[in-house]
Amino acid sequence: VFGELLASVRRDLLRVVNGEASHECILFASSGTGAIEACITSIVPASGSILILENGAYGQRMAEICNANGIEYETLQFDWTTPIDPAIVESRLAHDHQFSAVAFVHHETTAGIMNPLQKLLSVSGEHNLPALVDAMSSYAGIPLDLQESSIDFLVASSNKCLQGVAGLGFVLAKRESLERTRNFPPRNLYFNLIRNFDAQSTTGQFAFTAPVQLLQALQCALDEYFDETQAGRSRRYLALYEKISVGMESLGFECLIRDSFIHSRLITTYTEPDWPGFSFEGMHDFLFARGITIYPGKIPGECTFRIGNIGAISERDIETFLTCVAEYVNGISESGGHEDVST
Ligand SMILES: Cc1ncc(COP(=O)(O)O)c(C=O)c1O
Repeated sequence: VFGELLASVRRDLLRVVNGEASHECILFASSGTGAIEACITSIVPASGSILILENGAYGQRMAEICNANGIEYETLQFDWTTPIDPAIVESRLAHDHQFSAVAFVHHETTAGIMNPLQKLLSVSGEHNLPALVDAMSSYAGIPLDLQESSIDFLVASSNKCLQGVAGLGFVLAKRESLERTRNFPPRNLYFNLIRNFDAQSTTGQFAFTAPVQLLQALQCALDEYFDETQAGRSRRYLALYEKISVGMESLGFECLIRDSFIHSRLITTYTEPDWPGFSFEGMHDFLFARGITIYPGKIPGECTFRIGNIGAISERDIETFLTCVAEYVNGISESGGHEDVST
């Protein structure tokens, strides 16, 4: 029975992104970072190195993984408030290089920016380099089709836009790209991609103890996803974003990424206003006491905070959120002289 559950979850994770014809799913009992670490430490051979395209904290984390594991890498750094520029990547790859792979984040959750997936895949493809794409916060939130976007290794996790319980990370690997790593001398054990693939696909078991409850929960989340459909989920997330955006602007908040073409509209970075009495901690704690969690900003040198609009939330939840933010803003204006912006 467990074998059937595992097979069904692996198949469904591929179905979400139309990957059954070309890709294989490998699950790990870890958060998303574990699956990224599994991928990086399995796809770069002993003498190889990886090019990391970085425009946020999650690109930076890939470099930390390389450092921790003694893997050669080079980082191409971009501003954290702009997308990765494919032309700069192209000009780096046009020079002599020894890279075995390229890695980047699809939706950089740091500022809420979409990187140009298709163009970056074309550049890596032209140079015959397998691409590792961290799709942690885009998978199941933004439509993705692996027959159109030829990603060699897509990495995501059970929570975020899949709306499942946290604790499972997974890699969707293109068959040929995965097989090419088979004879690499392993530099990892628990996290070895081929070892876990062989166990999951041939014996129908995890190579190590399986997180059975998490798999059951993930199957429920997948069933909910297919009931809602990708189009339905994208539509709901967009409606939630629009409601937040209109509400926050009418309260006087300004978002940092103004270009809707590059903004994911799944998480929004707002600049902290300089209103007397306003503090992120104050607003965070006020909202937290009312059952709502908002996130601090992650951009160095900028005072920002972030509002996410993914997960099993409804327009009513957003109305409650906006009412609470208005209460906070009115509260500080009454005690600190900030004009009442809620009316
Ligand atoms: C783009 C991206 N990559 C990686 C991660 C790390 O995932 P986890 O916290 O599940 O390890 C996150 C988490 O927010 C993320 O947004």
